[in-house]
Amino acid sequence: MPAPVALITGGTSGIGKATAELLHQRGYRVIVTGQNPDTIAAAEKSLPEQVVVIRADARSLSDTDRVVEEIRERFGALDVLFLNAGIVRSQPVGAFDEATFDDLVEVDFKGQFFTLQKALPLLNDGGSVIFTVGIGATRGMAGGSVTAATRGALLSMVPSLAIELAPRRIRVNAVSPGPVDTGIWAKAGLPPEQLEMAAEATVSRVPLGRFGTSREIAEVVAFLASDAAGYVTGENIAVSGGAGIST
Ligand SMILES: NC(=O)c1ccc[n+]([C@@H]2O[C@H](COP(=O)([O-])OP(=O)(O)OC[C@H]3O[C@@H](n4cnc5c(N)ncnc54)[C@H](OP(=O)(O)O)[C@@H]3O)[C@@H](O)[C@H]2O)c1
Repeated sequence: MPAPVALITGGTSGIGKATAELLHQRGYRVIVTGQNPDTIAAAEKSLPEQVVVIRADARSLSDTDRVVEEIRERFGALDVLFLNAGIVRSQPVGAFDEATFDDLVEVDFKGQFFTLQKALPLLNDGGSVIFTVGIGATRGMAGGSVTAATRGALLSMVPSLAIELAPRRIRVNAVSPGPVDTGIWAKAGLPPEQLEMAAEATVSRVPLGRFGTSREIAEVVAFLASDAAGYVTGENIAVSGGAGIST
């Protein structure tokens, strides 16, 4: 049997990249996407050479068409779709600007949905779809309203999609990281001193007392991708050091 094929959106750094490395180690043929030329160049250097890196902006439906076409040509089909591309922006409601709002919705929500729609004809029956959501979908944080809303939108799609795709035995699940030290918060638009304070406050709310690692999230994604999770669908698994359940 040919090796299974996995597409990871936002697979050029952090959680997506760690998942690409792990799935590659476990025998998958892996394709990752990202949009920043510098991150792409770094990923091309550090990922195993068999991992295919494609530049595609999650906001662009024509980029998504191009990714799907390239996978069709090179691999013929897909077994695992890890919808992970995402951004975080923190601004109080009074200061939130429309462009940032639109960016969050387009990358974190619209991009995920249409990537699934467009990849679906390529996805084999019995395949696995995993969304990266985040415990922030259901927990409050000052400045995080719109980021949380896009995550909440993803989370609320999971049960309907799981039911809709069950006749094809395609499982649809979500993984919800707690704080993971990937550098995503450094891109959130906070000044450095506020960033440091936010990091300390965040860790103080994690029962296990530390940030998670990308590899720890990747392990759960790899489980959901595998036949070991063959009876798991419509679920959201928090990987948060307990932050998802603490007050
Ligand atoms: N780290 C955490 O604490 C945490 C917690 C909860 C949820 N999450 C979620 O986990 C996911 C992965 O984040 P991470 O922490 O691993 O951060 P990261 O290292 O910044 O990874 C984000 C990935 O998404 C890609 N991406 C961003 N905008 C994109 C766009 N418009 N088109 C295509 N790709 C795009 C990035 O590529 P480029 O560099 O090319 O933009 C990168 O590969 C995100 O959805 C994030 O919201 C993270």
